[in-house]
Amino acid sequence: MHNSSTSWGWLSKSYHWVIALLILVIVPVGFVMTATYQFKIDPANVVGARMETIHVWLSRIHQTAGLVVLMLVTLRLGWRLSSPGPGVPATLAAYQRVLAKLNHAFLYALLFAIPLSGWAAMSAFGEAPTYFFWLEGLPNLVPKVALTAQYGYSFYAGIHRYGIYTGGALLSLHIIAALWHQFVVKDSVLRRMWPLAN
Ligand code: HEM
Ligand code: HEM
Repeated sequence: MHNSSTSWGWLSKSYHWVIALLILVIVPVGFVMTATYQFKIDPANVVGARMETIHVWLSRIHQTAGLVVLMLVTLRLGWRLSSPGPGVPATLAAYQRVLAKLNHAFLYALLFAIPLSGWAAMSAFGEAPTYFFWLEGLPNLVPKVALTAQYGYSFYAGIHRYGIYTGGALLSLHIIAALWHQFVVKDSVLRRMWPLAN
């Protein structure tokens, strides 16, 4: 279960891959959810009413999975601090080690900032519940304010959206780095995070 100086334990691996799988679901659902909202609010659109049900279900899936990521990343970081991982390989150049650590730190920061800003956007909007499994209406993270207010829906939705774009760029670098370790450097970096490998 514990991490060692050569590999990640099963708990850290589970956190990493469960969160990665959840994000694989959350992101496309998020884009489709936003698109169904555009249909729903267009009065000229005859499918608007049917879109309402679809939009609510996509929102329920998106928000529930996003809040589960928020809980898992909190546990994951706690575990990471109490059981240190193998660390960035000493064979890398100093600048590469710094880049790897920075990228991981920003990914962690975004795993908090993205769901929190989504929850804050729903709270500021205040006209629709925040969903969590069967629950409708989690406590508000920020007060409900008018749509036109400075720190209203658009402000938090903007953080959410730019967080996603930044996350997409950092994640691409992260995946390229993992493949580079595996196929170019041929070290143990990908293997030690791989689900069933030692
Ligand atoms: C790791 C967690 C999350 C990820 C990766 C994520 C990702 C996304 C994506 C890709 C979109 C579509 C963006 C667009 O159309 O411009 C979106 C939209 C949205 N998400 Fe999330 N989301 C997460 C968590 C949450 C949570 C927990 C909530 C609320 C409780 C939430 C609320 C929203 C809202 C309100 C929008 C519409 C924003 C807009 O108007 O542009 N999200 N999200
Ligand atoms: C949404 C998807 C992902 C997120 C948010 C994510 C995030 C992270 C973070 C924050 C770490 C640092 C762990 C720590 O030091 O505590 C990490 C490690 C790692 N990730 Fe990902 N990751 C994702 C997907 C992937 C994918 C698709 C791959 C493989 C292609 C991958 C390969 C790795 C490897 C090999 C490590 C270990 C690095 C090391 O031992 O130094 N990750 N990931």
